[in-house]
Amino acid sequence: MWDPASYLRYGDERSRPFHDLLGRVAAQRPRTVVDLGCGPGHLTATLAARWPAARIVGLDSSAEMIAAATRAAPPAPSGAPSGGRVEFALADARTWTPDPEVDVLVCNAVLQWVPGHQELLLRWARELGPGRWLAVQVPGNFDAASHRALREVADTPRWRHLVADLLRADPVSDVAGYATLLTGAHCAVDAWETTYVHLLPASGATDHPVLGWMEGTALRPVRAALGGAGTAWDDFRAALTERLVEAYPVRHGLVQFPFRRVFFVARTGARQ
Ligand SMILES: C[S@@+](CC[C@H](N)C(=O)[O-])C[C@H]1O[C@@H](n2cnc3c(N)ncnc32)[C@H](O)[C@@H]1O
Repeated sequence: MWDPASYLRYGDERSRPFHDLLGRVAAQRPRTVVDLGCGPGHLTATLAARWPAARIVGLDSSAEMIAAATRAAPPAPSGAPSGGRVEFALADARTWTPDPEVDVLVCNAVLQWVPGHQELLLRWARELGPGRWLAVQVPGNFDAASHRALREVADTPRWRHLVADLLRADPVSDVAGYATLLTGAHCAVDAWETTYVHLLPASGATDHPVLGWMEGTALRPVRAALGGAGTAWDDFRAALTERLVEAYPVRHGLVQFPFRRVFFVARTGARQ
């Protein structure tokens, strides 16, 4: 289960890659823009501000996220078609197919949760038809100290049988892998990676900030399996915190949290 409030705790840091990704999409007058795996919808709303004449659709497989996005949806910007608020609906990326009016498909920080998504990308590149934009970002930090610490704790005798199977060793390709995949599917590809160094405020009175970050994303399946607060989850968290404190020390009241991300923007049918 996704918790929109927990996910939004580092909203500013998590939003930046979305804007960096969209900065490389040059669509002028798209008819429909889909934000697939839109989460709490605050970033989907920025698409409506950029393309006020477009139909903007946010889709997600989490009922909690779609409920939060629908509650927070802003009114239609001026210039939008009548009734042209951002629309949100439940959909699973694995089975969703674009309709012919989708000119821009954005999928930000989602595909790391979808095993075999490379096949999906090929299908979307085909189904979108020529001249459309496919913009994707995935985290490329599965070898970072935070994920290594998580795997180490999960692989100790106390936890192995409960959670080790839930962790994804390396669910994404590298940037060259995605570029190769999509150029092979006749797309013009713009691919890059960035390491953001997030400076997260730390105080002795609150949890380690990297733990707080991970609780919004990577730790969700572990927490769900262990039963939440007041259960074995508290012990798991304590064991992970010990490692995070060592890997991410507090300096000048801040923790430096380097976070690598992989981006690619594909223009379908632009290469033969
Ligand atoms: C890390 S959040 C990213 C949310 C948003 N795109 C953003 O950038 O803030 C990942 C989102 O992907 C959604 N998701 C995961 N698997 C999905 C799937 N198979 N189909 C649709 N959404 C999915 C989750 O429900 C969650 O809202």
